[in-house]
Amino acid sequence: MTECRSIDQLRQQISTWKAQGESIALVPTMGNLHEGHLHLVKIAQQHAQHVVVSIFVNPMQFNNSNDLDNYPRTQAADLQKLAALNVDIAFLPSPEMMYPNGVELETKVNVTGLDSVLEGAHRPGHFQGVATVVSKFFNLVQPDFAIFGEKDYQQLALIRKMASDLMLATEIIGVETQRDKEGLALSSRNTRLSPEQLELAPNLAKVMANVAQNCLKPNANLSDISQQAASTLNAQGFETDAIDIVDADTLAPVSPTTARIVILMAAFLGEVRLIDNLCVHLD
Ligand code: PAJ
Repeated sequence: MTECRSIDQLRQQISTWKAQGESIALVPTMGNLHEGHLHLVKIAQQHAQHVVVSIFVNPMQFNNSNDLDNYPRTQAADLQKLAALNVDIAFLPSPEMMYPNGVELETKVNVTGLDSVLEGAHRPGHFQGVATVVSKFFNLVQPDFAIFGEKDYQQLALIRKMASDLMLATEIIGVETQRDKEGLALSSRNTRLSPEQLELAPNLAKVMANVAQNCLKPNANLSDISQQAASTLNAQGFETDAIDIVDADTLAPVSPTTARIVILMAAFLGEVRLIDNLCVHLD
């Protein structure tokens, strides 16, 4: 595996592969890698001859400088995990390389609409930061495929929209959320949970599965269902932040033409905000 810390070196390797007509898949990450990330790498390897994993804690997508400073950085362990999987390139740019003139760029990528609802409503500028840095990575790596987790459902929807609107040559591949055996979605945040919280945490997915069942009942009242789910979670020791049930394709309110809904859940256990989501076909 090549540890690449220079844009020139990255571009050189990419142009060699391109000249040989070889395919490339990109897995963008912020590091602190767990099995969920590594699963994306394995999917990438099934799609392309070469896999590039970027590890970059992107300052542009953080609203809060404390969160940026405290984001776990575990580069040595991450590199070991990627090397064990025979990744071709781990790309490790510095903030100065990605933002030579700081994050206040004159050119920013806005996926309007999708970036200001749901999670975006609570985190102004977050999705603009995501779309902008992902565009930069796409331009550097020129991947045939880019792999994203469904765990961050709105992020995936937004990247798909960006790729389609801007006619990008990269095919976006969404990968099912990876879970532990109790059903808890894997996340680097899980390591911040106490043993007691870790026992409670899988209930988020259980309540979500129950919400899905209720949504399929005739004449289901979605706002009642989400309120009930919030009360159930709160009674168990969570502090529910948001439960949204929206059109899975547009993230707009459910309408008579909606074929698929997505249940988006966010709840705190202590200081830790857990998120999860589930898609349901309305047949
Ligand atoms: P990060 O949070 O490191 O996540 C990197 C990728 O791993 C994302 O596509 C995310 O959806 C996926 N992922 C995380 N947990 C997962 C799980 N349990 N199952 C499947 N996939 C999972 O998301 C980001 O970084 C950043 O916003 C980024 C796209 C890199 C832009 O900076």
